[in-house]
Amino acid sequence: MATTFIILKPDAVERGLIGEITTRFERRGLRFLAFELRQLEASLVQQHYAEHRGKPFYDDLVAFLTRGPVVVGIIEGPAQVVEMVRTMMGATDSAKAAPGTIRGDLAMLVDENLIHGSDSPASAEREIGLFFPEFRPV
Ligand code: PPS
Repeated sequence: MATTFIILKPDAVERGLIGEITTRFERRGLRFLAFELRQLEASLVQQHYAEHRGKPFYDDLVAFLTRGPVVVGIIEGPAQVVEMVRTMMGATDSAKAAPGTIRGDLAMLVDENLIHGSDSPASAEREIGLFFPEFRPV
């Protein structure tokens, strides 16, 4: 089994989509090992998105992620869980996301795209360490 990290972004929480999105993962058979509603500090979001510092959308992205509560979570699944979750999320630009994906069914903007999911096992490990420093797999 392997783990990945997700954030249900402020638009997902504001729109009351926490249940809809988490149900999709649970119906697939994936399991939440951690799940927490949190107001994020800008400093943590900046660390999380450090690789994007300097890009034109960076400041807006940090402002967006801190404008209201998010859900941070750890999902456990098979070895390919990182890729499975990314596939279920759909393309970053929601306008281009395929029907059947979270973004393709529930969103239409690139900047308010409902969910973050780690893009590799190495990112998942780094992000879990950042958001859940106490987390130990059981
Ligand atoms: S890049 O430039 O290809 O590396 O960017 P990408 O990996 O697609 O996206 C990095 C994160 O930035 C978000 N993003 C944006 N936010 C606001 N506005 C615009 N235009 C925009 N483009 C990309 C994107 O959702 C990624 O965040 P996460 O949380 O990983 O989805």
